[in-house]
Amino acid sequence: MKPGIHSNTSTHNPNRAVWKKLLRILALGLPYRKRIILSIAIALTSVTASLAVPLGLRELLDTVLHRADRSLLDRLALGLLVLLVLRSALGFLGGYLLRVTGERIVADLRLRIYAHLHGLGLDFFSNQRIGDITSRLTNDVALLRSVASEALVTCLFQTVRFIGCLILVIVLNWRLGLLVLVIMPTTTVLSRWVGRRLQQLARETQDHLAETTAVANEALSGIRVVKAFAREPYEIGRYHNVVEAVFEFSRRAGRLSTSFGSIIELLFSSSTIAIFWYGGTQLLRGSLTAGDLIAFLFFAQHISQSVSEMAGLYATFNSAVGASERIFDLLDTKSSIEDSPDARPITFQRGTVSLESVWFGYGSSPVLCDINFAVRSGETVALVGPSGAGKTTLLSLLPRFYDPDSGRILIDGHELRSISLSSLREQIAVVSQDVELFSTSVKENIRYGRLDARDDEVQAAARAANAHYFIAELPRGYDTEVGERGVKLSGGQRQRIAIARAFLKDAKILLLDEATSSVDAASEGLIQEAMEELVKERTTFIIAHRFATVRNADRILVLDKGLIVEDGTHNELMARGGLYCELAGHQFYKGIDQSPNAVDASTLEEKISVGLG
Ligand SMILES: Nc1ncnc2c1ncn2[C@@H]1O[C@H](COP(=O)(O)OP(=O)(O)O)[C@@H](O)[C@H]1O
Ligand SMILES: [Mg+2]
Repeated sequence: MKPGIHSNTSTHNPNRAVWKKLLRILALGLPYRKRIILSIAIALTSVTASLAVPLGLRELLDTVLHRADRSLLDRLALGLLVLLVLRSALGFLGGYLLRVTGERIVADLRLRIYAHLHGLGLDFFSNQRIGDITSRLTNDVALLRSVASEALVTCLFQTVRFIGCLILVIVLNWRLGLLVLVIMPTTTVLSRWVGRRLQQLARETQDHLAETTAVANEALSGIRVVKAFAREPYEIGRYHNVVEAVFEFSRRAGRLSTSFGSIIELLFSSSTIAIFWYGGTQLLRGSLTAGDLIAFLFFAQHISQSVSEMAGLYATFNSAVGASERIFDLLDTKSSIEDSPDARPITFQRGTVSLESVWFGYGSSPVLCDINFAVRSGETVALVGPSGAGKTTLLSLLPRFYDPDSGRILIDGHELRSISLSSLREQIAVVSQDVELFSTSVKENIRYGRLDARDDEVQAAARAANAHYFIAELPRGYDTEVGERGVKLSGGQRQRIAIARAFLKDAKILLLDEATSSVDAASEGLIQEAMEELVKERTTFIIAHRFATVRNADRILVLDKGLIVEDGTHNELMARGGLYCELAGHQFYKGIDQSPNAVDASTLEEKISVGLG
């Protein structure tokens, strides 16, 4: 079974699922609960103070006007002023505190997702598009951010205002209060219905949005291919389709949420008229004072505002629930490769490697079958075989990029799973088949091998990889920026930087996967010379297609269709006249070995596999 982000959390009760998600979002705030409680208390005080205004008006109409008391008016105005200043100050303090806390929670969440992503196994990344994943870091977290830092603040203030008004309204005149209460169930039912639709739409919009990012990412990072095949119109068309789909969904969501707001507002303004009329009749009958009625209308206004603001938030909350679902799906994805509880850091003294009955497959069909071999300390082993034989796969088991389905792999007699991942990978240097450079300077790319390396150590590694001379000729030497993925360098130059990076790491075990496939034969010879010193105390695995490289290895393993078919030195295998001999003979015959120019590994592989039929 392949891990991935499952888009569907199937629960029997959708309401419970939503609540669970909301609780998980709220749980993010637990570390900051003291600050949150404090700001809530402040906000509460501020809102309560704001309710004094309608009560002040009531006093004005019923008492001050009646008694024509000027000094009472002065005191009333001053009291109200003090209260309102207090309200503003507290409102600012509480709101600011809550908002900062929200931003903090969002920053924590981003870091947590990012760290979690780095903990996931390579299989996760081959099953997901990078655009989808980064969209989760940016768009989905941004959605949650809008809830955590804005919507929650508004929601809290409005709820308090709403409850406060409701209590006052009932106390002032319960009949009129009831009138307001009658309207509530109607709006609740309406909002729940629309809310469900909105949630679904928001989720679909986010999915389409992620799709646009993925499509753009793919096309822009493969821009050379796009241009080479003149597929610009095709790519623009592809992007057009996904963008239009997003627009269509957003349009529908927008229509729904705005019409929702208007309907609720309409409901509440008609209720104001109803209060106006009903209150008026009571006033005429003398069972209500003018002050009461004015205060009442103000409170009703407050209530309608609170409800319509909260209704607006409903959409925000719903899209946040959708976003959080995707985020938690990601956070719940377990890594296929993890430290076992008893794993501990181990320093390799000898660097012996042995594989015992190792089977492995990416899916159901095996790629490696019953692999057995043992490598002595400091030995250089070459892996040879046609394309797709499983050479890269075999090497990727050593740093535990993948775990074997069965069998054991031991380094220095320790099972890989008993070694902590970080210490294992710290002691294995890899130059992979597809060289990945980062878009920084040459120096920083090499230093990636050992972050605390001095400049002279970086240079020494570059010399050993036969990279120093070409680097010195670059416009800004070691400080030259290599461009995204190193596009400003040739394939051979990139490879030599990758080799320097691995050399700098100074690890006990060295894995070179077609590390010199794009380097010309002369440079390769120089790299090999330099490497002879380096590989002496290291256990080295080399996958190479040029037999000049392979020939010098202490031992050669020939892989075919996931099986080790031959094992021995160059001379032994040549004498045997098997697959190795066939591959080598074929290459010499083609004269590839003598080619002075860089030869693309894939064409070579092609020739070899074609040659094998
Ligand atoms: N990430 C992957 N997911 C699924 N299958 C893969 C993956 N990588 C390689 N394979 C398959 O495993 C087989 C061996 O591949 P690989 O080890 O790269 O061969 P080699 O390095 O010898 O050319 C191939 O059939 C390839 O299609
Ligand atoms: Mg390979």
